[in-house]
Amino acid sequence: MGVMNHSPPVWRSILLVGIFFSLLHWAYYVGGPFSDSFSSRVLKPAAFEANRSSDIAHKAPEASSVRESTNTSDVFNSTLGFEKVIGLNLPDRADKRDNLSLMSALTGFKISWVDGVLGPAVPDKAVPFGWDRTQWPEANLGSWRGHINAIRSIVEDDLSSALILEDDVDWDVSLKPQLSQFAEAAKTLQADFPKSTLHPDPSPYGQDWDLLWIGACLTRFNREQSEPKVLLRNDPTVAPRHRLGQNDTFAWDEYPEHSRIVYVPDHDTICSFAYALSREGARKALLYLGVEDQPTVFDFHMSDLCRDKPLGIRCISLVPGLFMHHRPRGRVSHDSDILEFDPEEVREVGTTENILYSTRLNLRNLIEGREPQKQWAD
Ligand SMILES: *[C@@H]1O[C@H](CO)[C@@H](O)[C@H](O)[C@H]1NC(C)=O
Ligand SMILES: *[C@@H]1O[C@H](CO)[C@@H](O)[C@H](O)[C@H]1NC(C)=O
Ligand SMILES: *[C@@H]1O[C@H](CO)[C@@H](O)[C@H](O)[C@H]1NC(C)=O
Ligand SMILES: *[C@@H]1O[C@H](CO)[C@@H](O)[C@H](O)[C@H]1NC(C)=O
Ligand SMILES: *[C@@H]1O[C@H](CO)[C@@H](O)[C@H](O)[C@H]1NC(C)=O
Repeated sequence: MGVMNHSPPVWRSILLVGIFFSLLHWAYYVGGPFSDSFSSRVLKPAAFEANRSSDIAHKAPEASSVRESTNTSDVFNSTLGFEKVIGLNLPDRADKRDNLSLMSALTGFKISWVDGVLGPAVPDKAVPFGWDRTQWPEANLGSWRGHINAIRSIVEDDLSSALILEDDVDWDVSLKPQLSQFAEAAKTLQADFPKSTLHPDPSPYGQDWDLLWIGACLTRFNREQSEPKVLLRNDPTVAPRHRLGQNDTFAWDEYPEHSRIVYVPDHDTICSFAYALSREGARKALLYLGVEDQPTVFDFHMSDLCRDKPLGIRCISLVPGLFMHHRPRGRVSHDSDILEFDPEEVREVGTTENILYSTRLNLRNLIEGREPQKQWAD
């Protein structure tokens, strides 16, 4: 059990990036992702045995018209087809909230805020069993507490579903059409899932899911690449292959250009930038990630949850994901403890891996009514 046991060299060599609570999930893997036993560079996408690849995005028009497309699906409503969108934010980082509120207003959804927590604010008596305060930075403890507060609020308010966002994320200006394509693929995959036991409210994402992991920084497929997958082709908002990350056990070259892979996790997924929970999923997550023993940091343990599937959890993820951590302009050394960075180096322009039409970087264009710009011309 546990990410740690699966691949100790990689996990031990993680340096945490950034000093603020929400940066802490941006793990950096020293020695490269192939330094462990999974290095046998994985396999063909024979994986698409399923070739359930439904060509959903086949007729995808240009990004600007994608953005403006109208649709009556609830995915397009002001909470993205969930009952709530919850943003996690430390109260004294009002600056981050400013950005996210503006971004969500311009993409057409509303965020409800839950306060983040600083590690030292968690007294010893409230530290979960299994957590080693000497092993993990205090900020990871605070981050765990903040996520659990958000998950608990879903349970307490008996929401049918909610999307949880960290406050330094970014997304594409075409988020809603992207989510609508993801929703169709997710429903296809749920055909093989066990049925929900609680009577679920109707959801545009389907009735039989617990957790939708739609913002991660790293995806591993199992050795055989045998996890169920749906390929979304011809998505004009997917960056060219050489600009894409998040692929840890496969190469983008193995897949068609401009595709997204929606899949049922059977290996590790890292970084909890954005994930949705259904009512049933929130109860399972509160038990496994909150109430029971916590041997490791939040996103690693959520990875355990989706990989090992205790409680019969039904997870669906996609790569490249729809939410990513933004690296703001400013001193590069502030992102990272890694020595290779020149302490004087300044990033002149902020950047967000994987996100082609970054909402954050297009705030001015959107407000001034201009066409959003791509981050990369090729
Ligand atoms: C998979 O689907 C694509 C697009 O629908 C099709 O062109 C291709 O022939 C299929 N491959 C297999 C192995 O069925
Ligand atoms: C958006 O759709 C979801 C799913 O149908 C629903 O639970 C939620 O209440 C809707 N949001 C609004 C603001 O109507
Ligand atoms: C807010 O977004 C702007 C534009 O990308 C960026 O320069 C700034 O660093 C962001 N601030 C925070 C706190 O993320
Ligand atoms: C709206 O989106 C749903 C998926 O969310 C799709 O099934 C449906 O065909 C779309 N309808 C229109 C009119 O585009
Ligand atoms: C990710 O995909 C790119 C493009 O195919 C490839 O060059 C790179 O090696 C892949 N990364 C990993 C860790 O496999």
